[in-house]
Amino acid sequence: TIADMKGVKQGRLRIAAVTTTKYFMPRLLGPFCKQYPGIDVALEVINRNRLLERLARNQDDLYIMGVPPEGLDIECEPFMENPLVVLAPADHPLARRKRIPFAALGSEPFIVRERGSGTRLTLERVFQEHSVPLTIRMELGSNEAIKQAVAGGLGLAVLSQSTLSLEPGEKDLRILDVVGFPIRRHWYVVRLRDKPLSVVAQTFLDFLRSHVTLLSPRAPQVGRAASRRRHGEW
Ligand code: PGA
Repeated sequence: TIADMKGVKQGRLRIAAVTTTKYFMPRLLGPFCKQYPGIDVALEVINRNRLLERLARNQDDLYIMGVPPEGLDIECEPFMENPLVVLAPADHPLARRKRIPFAALGSEPFIVRERGSGTRLTLERVFQEHSVPLTIRMELGSNEAIKQAVAGGLGLAVLSQSTLSLEPGEKDLRILDVVGFPIRRHWYVVRLRDKPLSVVAQTFLDFLRSHVTLLSPRAPQVGRAASRRRHGEW
């Protein structure tokens, strides 16, 4: 468009992002939208399976997810750490132990995300790799609800560290020191390889690359990564 040619960043940016990104995506969009007031962002927050459907139908410009699919003609770029941690209620006996062997998780009930969630997929894969049985006490479609269920003593959970903001109530939760955890993963920005990038999509990609590369999932402010890393905050 003429606006693009003049270098005025204008237009609609469509992003689909998995459920767990709700802890940082809206906050990232704050400074982006301030910098580019002409860009109108539509953010769709859904689980991994629904995101893959949107990707297959070419419904958005960019997709944000933790477990990119195999066998699709896509470009995917990691832009932020996305570790998975084991959560327990603060008064759980394992909460005081160090270097808990993975096998100990086999005798604990778990509160898990719904099928179709990337978190659930990774959880099942990891238990399978360790040949440890996964006992599912309850399935819940929301990270928030899972944290509350864990705090309430219903079981343990494996969730992205991105879900742990410093909210009131989180004093009831502990991250367990299980061997093999945190599981190191990343958040990826994904797009269809054949789809030409619009100027606004390119602008957002550049924004992610230049501002967010080393960002800690626990501190989703823009541009503070280097100092946080130096201070060992993750
Ligand atoms: P989910 O995805 O919100 O669908 O569980 C998170 C992830 O893939 O890390």
